[in-house]
Amino acid sequence: MSDAGTGTHFDVIVIGGGPGGYGAALYGAAAGLDIALVERDKVGGTCLHRGCIPAKELLETAHVFRTVAEASAFGVEASEPSLDFGTTMGRKEQVVGTLFKGLSGLLKSRKVTMFDGTGTMRADRSVVVAGNDGETAEITADAVILASGSVARTIPGFDVDGKVVLTSDEVFELKELPARVAVIGGGAIGCEFASMMSDLGSQVTVLEALPQLMPGVDKDVVSTVLRSFKGRGIDVRTGVKVAGHTPGASGTTVAVEGGDDVEVDAVIVSVGRRPLSDSLGLDGTGVVVSDRGFVEVDELCRTAVDGVWAIGDLIATPGLAHVGYAEAILVIKQLLGEEAVPVDYGKVAWCIYCKPEVAFVGLSEQAAKDAGHDVVVAKHRWGGNSRALIVGDAEGVVKVIAEKGPDGTAGRVLGVHMSGPWVTEQLGQAYLGVNWEATVEEFAHFIQPHPSLSETFGETVLSLTGRSLNG
Ligand code: NAI
Repeated sequence: MSDAGTGTHFDVIVIGGGPGGYGAALYGAAAGLDIALVERDKVGGTCLHRGCIPAKELLETAHVFRTVAEASAFGVEASEPSLDFGTTMGRKEQVVGTLFKGLSGLLKSRKVTMFDGTGTMRADRSVVVAGNDGETAEITADAVILASGSVARTIPGFDVDGKVVLTSDEVFELKELPARVAVIGGGAIGCEFASMMSDLGSQVTVLEALPQLMPGVDKDVVSTVLRSFKGRGIDVRTGVKVAGHTPGASGTTVAVEGGDDVEVDAVIVSVGRRPLSDSLGLDGTGVVVSDRGFVEVDELCRTAVDGVWAIGDLIATPGLAHVGYAEAILVIKQLLGEEAVPVDYGKVAWCIYCKPEVAFVGLSEQAAKDAGHDVVVAKHRWGGNSRALIVGDAEGVVKVIAEKGPDGTAGRVLGVHMSGPWVTEQLGQAYLGVNWEATVEEFAHFIQPHPSLSETFGETVLSLTGRSLNG
């Protein structure tokens, strides 16, 4: 079951091998801790096998497809692109496989002891591993980190069958691209799939319960996504309630309350994820689990039981791989007796990789106002950015929200919200600045390379100083 020697006691046992869990194992092992990592499937978790990585890989296929379709604008003549979906999925598997091999090798080289099976914790904090090979092992450690992650939520009336009704898990196993798709839930996952499938040729309808696509995201950013989606023929319906579906000879008809039904070949349910705490055997251990299934922790990721920690999608913090990494580091630092600074969850980086990409950090304009801030806002479009015109992608907006000082000038930057070309790769400086509580003047002091996409961000902060170059 494991590659362990004879030892059954470790410094740390980590249950769950996703970004939170393997992050804790790698970071802890790098600091010399003796780590056991229990994983019943494959290390890498949802992110690597059924989430971030395969989704972004398929979105890149959509990018290549669009590029070829639009190549003639550059004077590059190519025939109309068509999709070999088998090759598409094969490449996705190859990327995932390469990363999986790399991660497995890294864990091995750092001498992390792997246990292949399901780990449950007992009241005395020992961990029982029911091995995938039928063997059982009992291991102990000075600290236990729970990192068992989350699974896709479903909704009544939509039983996932892997053929017509899918969650993100099944989308990555598709053998062919469905011609007509209904995406239920217009959040991060829904918008990424809608964008990708539409670009590859599917007819896509998004059905979102709340009045806004991407609820919680700044309205100006969302309206650019909406304009792009509609322009590409995606039917976006917000404020709608789905009331089940009726399978037909091929595909199914989704009933939309108070609206037209949607006839499709596949339904993708992307209505959020729920924590996977039930398989950890936490009853009677003293670890508190909320009504919604999240393991309850304090700001240092400590559970109610001394020496037991929980991180990643298992706790009620943003469900993002990089938040899992941050929490892993936070816990390991405490185990090492080092100073540990809690994660500032209001200022983590958010990235959604649809077309146009969305990236943001800090408060949206509305959230800043709701929090009682008096704000100054600047917005810039990509139309004046040379690099955006060169790459032929000028959809979107860059918006900076700053605190308004008593004299009316813009001070500390509260939020940076962007949509457009490669904004996920551009968020870094805004992320650092917002977390370092930089002011508009401090941001504007630094220059951006020319020509570059990041000049639009530079121009936006510069304009908040009351002067500007191009904007
Ligand atoms: P989400 O919470 O982002 O969005 C779910 C959406 O479904 C919401 O807009 C919600 O209003 C809607 N909804 C809920 N019930 C509904 C119903 N019955 N009918 C219609 N709409 C309904 O969840 P999502 O997109 O499934 O993502 C799950 C997690 O994965 C999130 O925590 C997200 O942050 C993370 N994620 C992050 C990504 C990124 O950062 N690029 C990409 C994918 C996922």
